[in-house]
Amino acid sequence: MKDPNFLKKYQNYHDKNIALIGHMGSGKSTIGKLIAKKLKLRYLDSDQLIEKNTNKTIYEIFKSDGETKFRTIEESTILSLKNKKNLVLSLGGGSIISAKVRQLLNKNYITLFLDIDLSILVKRLKYSNKRPLIAGQDIETKIKELDIFRRKYYLLADIILKEYDNPSETLINFLIKYKKLNEKNY
Ligand code: S3P
Repeated sequence: MKDPNFLKKYQNYHDKNIALIGHMGSGKSTIGKLIAKKLKLRYLDSDQLIEKNTNKTIYEIFKSDGETKFRTIEESTILSLKNKKNLVLSLGGGSIISAKVRQLLNKNYITLFLDIDLSILVKRLKYSNKRPLIAGQDIETKIKELDIFRRKYYLLADIILKEYDNPSETLINFLIKYKKLNEKNY
């Protein structure tokens, strides 16, 4: 950016937390960390919190307790953050299927949906071995199936961004939309 102060003004706009939603592999943690750094907010990741609280990996929880139990833990972990402020929170791809999570997001968060082309996700996820939902599955079929069910919830986001050439470009585009949104709200 030409003007070094350009981004400073965004630092006041954090009366609401920011949450990143979208499919696995969409870049939520990469972009979330960049946003947190730029806006001087704390970064948290729901999967990491779950792993810390349960002392198990997500993979182990799915394997030993099953998806339903994982969703219960995921929901309560996210809801436990309801009084936290100054947060950028990256959410597991399936967390928005919980109505209670959506309610919390609606109230306390500005949400960003990273709407990445499914074909790009499939390429990225080919090499992932820590995601139980796609393990041993045809990734393209699985992602399409998840998308059919989840897209309507992802589309509720305040800000929707497509794929950009690199994460810093995504960050800039987020900040522009974030600023507009805040101007509209005040
Ligand atoms: C899941 C996404 C994962 C993780 C779990 C289930 C999903 O998180 O919560 O494997 O249902 O889409 P990421 O979206 O951070 O990969």
